[in-house]
Amino acid sequence: MMRSLRPFSLALTVGFALALPHELKAQDAVDDAISLMLIEMSLEEKVGQMTQLTLGALSSGEATSENPEAHQLDADKLRHAIVDRHVGSIINVHNMAFSGEHWHKVITAIQDLATKETKQKIPILYGIDSIHGANYIREATLFPQNLNLAATRNPDLVEQCHAVCARETRAAGIPWNFGPVLDVGRQPLWSRFFETYGEDVHIATVLGAAAVRGLQGSDLSSTQQVAATAKHFLGYSNPISGRDRTQALLPERYLREHFLPPFMAAVKENVRAVMVNSGEVNGLPVHANHNILTKLLRGQMKFKGVVVTDWEDVKKLHSLHRVAPNLKEATRLAVEAGIDLCMAPNDFQFTDHLIELVNEGLILEELIDQTVTRILRLKFDLGLFAKPYPDSGLLKEIGNEQAAALSRQAARQSLVLLKNENVLPLAKDTKILLTGPGCNSLAALHGAWSYTWQGTDEAAYPKKLHTVLEAFNEAHGRDKVLWARGAQWDGSTDFDYALKKAQDADVIVCVLAEEPSTETPGNISDLTLPSNQLRLVRKLAMGKPLILVLLENRPRLITEIAGHCHGIVYAGHPGPHGGSAIYDLLTGEFNPSGKLPFTYPRDPNLLLPYDHKFSDTADSAHDDKGFNPLYEFGHGLSYTTFTYGNLSLPPDPLIQLDSVRLSVKVSNTGTRQGTETVHVFVRDLFASVAPPVKRLRAFRRVTIEAGATETVIFEFPVIDLAFFGPRNYPIVEPGEFEVMIGDQKGTIVVE
Ligand code: BGC
Repeated sequence: MMRSLRPFSLALTVGFALALPHELKAQDAVDDAISLMLIEMSLEEKVGQMTQLTLGALSSGEATSENPEAHQLDADKLRHAIVDRHVGSIINVHNMAFSGEHWHKVITAIQDLATKETKQKIPILYGIDSIHGANYIREATLFPQNLNLAATRNPDLVEQCHAVCARETRAAGIPWNFGPVLDVGRQPLWSRFFETYGEDVHIATVLGAAAVRGLQGSDLSSTQQVAATAKHFLGYSNPISGRDRTQALLPERYLREHFLPPFMAAVKENVRAVMVNSGEVNGLPVHANHNILTKLLRGQMKFKGVVVTDWEDVKKLHSLHRVAPNLKEATRLAVEAGIDLCMAPNDFQFTDHLIELVNEGLILEELIDQTVTRILRLKFDLGLFAKPYPDSGLLKEIGNEQAAALSRQAARQSLVLLKNENVLPLAKDTKILLTGPGCNSLAALHGAWSYTWQGTDEAAYPKKLHTVLEAFNEAHGRDKVLWARGAQWDGSTDFDYALKKAQDADVIVCVLAEEPSTETPGNISDLTLPSNQLRLVRKLAMGKPLILVLLENRPRLITEIAGHCHGIVYAGHPGPHGGSAIYDLLTGEFNPSGKLPFTYPRDPNLLLPYDHKFSDTADSAHDDKGFNPLYEFGHGLSYTTFTYGNLSLPPDPLIQLDSVRLSVKVSNTGTRQGTETVHVFVRDLFASVAPPVKRLRAFRRVTIEAGATETVIFEFPVIDLAFFGPRNYPIVEPGEFEVMIGDQKGTIVVE
């Protein structure tokens, strides 16, 4: 079929809101104030504003789980950084989470120096990784990790969780969060897979935008909000080797199609900061890539906020990527490419080199002025000039019962029932053997970024939290819960003891778990779960009902044991209430509704996502298994059953400015109320760029009473059917599109 190409400009899809007149006035006043400040500021002061240090470089004592109060600021180092070197931003925790009260002391000491003892009195911009709740504040509410939140398919819930995260982070005196992670999880080996919203770009876009709204709200200066950071721009999550911070080869079209949209949505939500990808894309380290950081981000996407580097990444242009023969050239490359703030974070080499570069005329001071303007603007908008200090009245806002209830609800909605051969739900009088390394570990429930960076220090977790074992003991009764470790993360086993205990049990619940990790400590070279854990399951396959629960950072392969199990639950990292949520799911206290946000692979070398190409699965006499996952993207069972019918699609051809309005009837044909996520997949039958087999274009959770039928209506613009065409613009090509919802199928035509 001949098709004409109709390009859409990026502006159409990005769509910026216009500011109201009174907002414009206030903005003018801030612009004037910043211009005046810049006139007064020395080059050293300006470059200091672009420098970001980690708290560890300014501390003398370290908090530990034995002595959480041991952290101390080093007064001399702090004074040197803020007063002598004019540092503009400080980040991070030192070693492990502080109490809200300790945070107040730290931030107060920092702001005292900045606002009382410097010429310009510019407050410090403090930033932190509140990745799943305010995970570096001891009393804060932690939530399931992003990958779990993606399984809920619930944007409102995601927004609410991030709003709590913002409130509790700000209550500690910290106004800036390094989240949400908007990298799309296309590489299951990658150590940060659990930080993503999964493999689908549409889900990452919708949930990422919800996260930004929750964090930033409508007034950044309010005590309830923080500035958000969309990270890591761009193409971080798909390294060839799967190892963190290693190179990715991503054709321009693929980069735009699968990785750009969540960032575009975040910019549309006015996200105030963007953090740069530490890796190389197509041979160029992103920290030195003017095309990505300036032409694309500022030029096409119209991003107005602050671009912050990732950890030591300016230096690494020299020491790791080797695109700069020395640190000075590395500094020049990064600043010319478009960074604003350098996460140095341990020394002043960036600062010194940048001052030299400007003095030598190799970087224009106007460029520095533009950058500092953006940083100061963020400080003004956060209200830091007016109120730099933490508010002691807010400490009580950290960690309340309402927030805990939200986390509990998120944990429940995030669990995915993958398999149930009529063994679940369990009767309340069942005698259960709990075994596996995930049974008695809070770390396994939380994952990394929990009280410590890697999340593995069990002693750092609040005493009141329950492991899976403790939750089962409490809810089921100790007399009906048996426990054996079975296998541990150090590779050890106690199979004989587990087998002996299993004799006395009616049901075996095996909680396999990957030891939490993130970034380079989480690199692996085999997606298969460690063999001692797989052997444990094989030993326990003795005929009794065997249920597998998976606490993991990414989809670790379980193919060789899945067949032995009668029930399987993907639990990911459900957070502090994960233990009771798992118990409640297994015993039918609630009806599971989670849906896989990724394709669960069957084979180590067949890691195709659901939206692969037709040619990936070319059927031939030699190979009919091009795509053969263990569990498909979107899979997730319920204790009731749903059927789909009456798909209704626009009968007449649509034009490109139309909306697609469609509806489908979903019936609950089982005996209890349940929640189903309706996924709308669309396939472009023929296109100038080989189309994927299907793409998710819309989704909705619906709760339906037993025996009832709901009509679910969707409406989205025809431009949502666009793909990045031969010239890398989003285009909708006229022709037929197949719509697939459950087992319902139909065709729409676009003219
Ligand atoms: C991570 C970032 C994080 C930063 C600050 C880096 O190592 O890649 O995601 O925000 O550290 O802690």
